[in-house]
Amino acid sequence: VGDTIALTPPMGWNSWNCWGSKIDQQKTLAAAKAIVRHGLDRHGWTYVNIDDAWQGKRGGPFNGIQPDPKNFPDMKKLCDEVHGMGLKIGIYSTPWVTTYARHIGGSAENPEGDWTSPGNGPKTVNKKILPWAIGKHSFATHDAKQWAAWGMDYLKYDWNPIEVPETAEMEKALRDSGRDVILSLSNSTPFKSIPELSRIANCWRTTGDIKDTWDSMSKKGFTQDKWAPFAAPGHFNDPDMLVVGHVGWGKPHPTNLTPDEQYTHISIWCLLSAPLLLGCDLEKLDDFTLGLLTNDEVLAINQDVLCKQAVKVAGTDVLPVFAKPLEDGSKAVGLFNLGTDEAEVAVTWKDLGLNGGQTVRDLWRQKDVGAFPDGYRVKIAPHGVTLVRVIPAK
Ligand code: DGJ
Repeated sequence: VGDTIALTPPMGWNSWNCWGSKIDQQKTLAAAKAIVRHGLDRHGWTYVNIDDAWQGKRGGPFNGIQPDPKNFPDMKKLCDEVHGMGLKIGIYSTPWVTTYARHIGGSAENPEGDWTSPGNGPKTVNKKILPWAIGKHSFATHDAKQWAAWGMDYLKYDWNPIEVPETAEMEKALRDSGRDVILSLSNSTPFKSIPELSRIANCWRTTGDIKDTWDSMSKKGFTQDKWAPFAAPGHFNDPDMLVVGHVGWGKPHPTNLTPDEQYTHISIWCLLSAPLLLGCDLEKLDDFTLGLLTNDEVLAINQDVLCKQAVKVAGTDVLPVFAKPLEDGSKAVGLFNLGTDEAEVAVTWKDLGLNGGQTVRDLWRQKDVGAFPDGYRVKIAPHGVTLVRVIPAK
């Protein structure tokens, strides 16, 4: 895949966390239209990614996985329509025989029968009949050619444990397909393999699946330090999708995160240089969520071209301060309160490796706070954040 694509973290939408297995062509197109209607594309939200459960039987000109004709009657048309809106589109597969959610249509051949090939096959696979398995023959090359012919720009390759040989094989297949396709690995990448995998893949999930609870989000977001050395332009640690808006894995409901928790969620994902993939029903976006997703000063922290991942530089486990260097020489700093009472959180310029007075700009409020000689301290609501840029004072 190389370092010519995804030079900053991919931003967009993925179907799984709102629609689960109920994804179809109409819902995918509706998500793309909603991105444009809400003007999210003008803030960088670009990818419209189909997750698991689009698959039907194998076949077609490349003997690649074909879509389920009922749910996705015309994949090429969908790709053209999404591209016509100035957006990009993504697809999902796995090197297993079945998918992660046990649908037919992984990028491997079923060693025990041919229902992944043209012919018969249950839509959902019974675990007892066939366990998840690496098939006897891989269809990576066939599938990559088919995705390129449709016009796919992004592949989520999903299995566990993620291994190097399957990743390298798919990376080569995508490269040989003649199209620039992001290779994104899911889920729970083994840390021991990350030096190798991080050179091959564009993104890799560092965690299991996120839920729209404080516990799930904060346990993922604030435990990423050990992965930081592997973040680079074109290569990103992925702590999973954003659980703001209406999520619900087939039964969309408003997120269980409070407004402060949502500010915290977006702030730490931006600081981590994480892929920003919305998992919500974009047709039900409310003004609050839209505000969260269109603050360019906040998003600029995520999209900074250095692609450094913030690490904890000060504070305590409950009141941590995370910082990341930015291209212009300033620092993005998140002061977090993970506790349940209002508390003061502090950082010194020494903690940030800075000498002399600094100017502080509050990024959510888009306001200069002032110049401070030695450091900055601020009262923060429970589960809340103050996200600032620290700029050398003139
Ligand atoms: C597991 C992944 O972690 C999820 O994000 C989703 O892609 C499901 N598999 C789909 O089966």
